[in-house]
Amino acid sequence: MYFDTLKCISFRPDCIQGAAMPLSKGIVSMAHASESDRDLFYALARSADEAERLNQQAELWRKATSRVLDQLDLAPGMSCLDFGCGAGDVMLALGRRVGPSGNVVGVDTDADLGRNVAKELTKTGASRFSFLEADITKPESLPTELFDVTSARFLLVHLEDPVVALRTMWNLTRPGGVLVVFDYDFRTHDTHPACPELEEFIAVVDGVFEKAGLDPRIGSKLPHYLERAAEGPPDGVETSGFITPLPDLREFLLLSYKSLLPAALDLGVTTEGKAEKMIAFLEGGAAESPSYWLSALYCSAWKRKP
Ligand SMILES: C[S@@+](CC[C@H](N)C(=O)[O-])C[C@H]1O[C@@H](n2cnc3c(N)ncnc32)[C@H](O)[C@@H]1O
Repeated sequence: MYFDTLKCISFRPDCIQGAAMPLSKGIVSMAHASESDRDLFYALARSADEAERLNQQAELWRKATSRVLDQLDLAPGMSCLDFGCGAGDVMLALGRRVGPSGNVVGVDTDADLGRNVAKELTKTGASRFSFLEADITKPESLPTELFDVTSARFLLVHLEDPVVALRTMWNLTRPGGVLVVFDYDFRTHDTHPACPELEEFIAVVDGVFEKAGLDPRIGSKLPHYLERAAEGPPDGVETSGFITPLPDLREFLLLSYKSLLPAALDLGVTTEGKAEKMIAFLEGGAAESPSYWLSALYCSAWKRKP
């Protein structure tokens, strides 16, 4: 039910208008990027397929996310601010916990996605949902009031300075409130029995973030970054991962690879020839693969404000 609601959101044809900003236009060589060029870079696609990928990804980590949120003492009536809200999975999880007397504001630079997500989430009646088009790196675009919960999932990996972003989140957290972040450390990606074809997938994931000056291992650094931003160690840290038959995950891997591909080509991380082979494998041979896939490490850290 939870997943179905979100699936509806991403498949509404009026919901996703990401094609309005083709990713390739936003890609620049990070080695020579000016500040304004950097503003344009986003490693993933903005498309209906990317929204579907976000929903599949949300499903993969739903239990792990709940385990963390259930430790935060969230209560009816609380206010929440979710940065980089995307297709709204964390917003809904927060909304179900703070209830109709609470409220959840989603913040994203993708206004078309965000507005429709808030509209669709409102129909669930779980909480009061709204959307703010804003950029976490531009504090002047952010709310001025404080929130009981500030959150960000899979956002910090896209930012040049995650500590500054965490400080922004901390500043928007009310005394007694809690900040929670989730992100990946991709270093655990692996297959057994070894599946050589997947080496290209792993190289593209790591390569795009590295070449863009971003950190594909940010997840395991969250506790340290949070300590720096919030002047004290986190109150809690959790990591999760899974091992699953490769055939069961090939659609998610295919969506992920295709989402990163324009950036990977522009940054010289892969070639069209390698990409064709990778896609052909994920669409075909991977269905019969005997390999198991070891996921990225899903890392979270949280801290309550004194
Ligand atoms: C990988 S998605 C994650 C979405 C969602 N948090 C989830 O867990 O499914 C990252 C989201 O962050 C948004 N984003 C990227 N840079 C941002 C920024 N500087 N400020 C706010 N949102 C940003 C993107 O538009 C995208 O919707």
